[in-house]
Amino acid sequence: MAQKVFVTRKISDVGVDMLTSHGYEVTVSQKDGPMTKDELVSELKKGQYNAVLCLLTDHVDKEVLDAAGKQCKIFANYAVGFDNIDVATARARDIYISNTPDVLTETVAEHTFALMLAIAHRISESERFVRKGLYKGWGPLLLLGSDVFGKTLGVVGLGRIGARVAHHAVRGFDMKVVYYDIKRNENFEKEYGAKFIPTVEALLPEADYVSLHVPLLDSTHYLMNDTRFAMMKPTAYLVNTSRGPIVEERALLRALRGNVIRGAALDVFEHEPEIDPLLFELDNILLTPHIASATEETREKMAQMAAKNIIEALSGRIPPNIVQAS
Ligand code: DGY
Repeated sequence: MAQKVFVTRKISDVGVDMLTSHGYEVTVSQKDGPMTKDELVSELKKGQYNAVLCLLTDHVDKEVLDAAGKQCKIFANYAVGFDNIDVATARARDIYISNTPDVLTETVAEHTFALMLAIAHRISESERFVRKGLYKGWGPLLLLGSDVFGKTLGVVGLGRIGARVAHHAVRGFDMKVVYYDIKRNENFEKEYGAKFIPTVEALLPEADYVSLHVPLLDSTHYLMNDTRFAMMKPTAYLVNTSRGPIVEERALLRALRGNVIRGAALDVFEHEPEIDPLLFELDNILLTPHIASATEETREKMAQMAAKNIIEALSGRIPPNIVQAS
């Protein structure tokens, strides 16, 4: 009998094709949107699947893992972040959890840089201005922004994505890079002339742009709060393409309203998809809907990688991208 795979939402066809061409019976959720936990639990109980390809919008907790049953070998997350999954419980149940590292690094780094340039040059604010018919002619003081070139970028979390953002900053914009990470990387420092700063508190006052690249953990939840915003330069900008709850959204609102910092660009939100509507009233914030990895090329590679992890697990081998509980 064919092994059964459940895919919790429509993804690039290439991933589903890989699974079906391996002879698996693949069911893709037909819902136009993320499944609720109740829907997922009931589908898993009913389907008795051997593998699940899930998304960052699926909360894979104990109840979901129980519903998956003993025949289920793997939940392959279609994301590099895996804070949506109770990895420790999965491990205790002998279920592999895998993610999609590397394939989205360049795309997320590009999006991060796009946000940084756009907030500094007031791109979306200017575009709104033009569309509203407010442009009446060139003006020497019209919509003045900030340079990125030659400024200091503070990278919080020097993993794959943080390191690529730093690369673009140094090579493309002659920026200086200061970074905080739990691990120092002396090779990186030599290559990019970057400076390691052992605490976030010491990094914030040095940076003109602060870009967040840490995973969401208990220790990084609300990493950016009132106290930390007060440590940033009043001329500085925050960019977040990691996970929403790393920034306390109400504290960010206060910082932007009170000119504690100059601006922020966010791709992720504390309670996504809900966004505090008060943020919409501000011009010094730029918002994108968690699309940092959303290019056709990258989403195809993510689908292939998630499918590959499932194929390996269902073939009795260790999947290449399994993650451990942090
Ligand atoms: C991830 O992979 O964790 C990203 O947030 C997806 O865009």
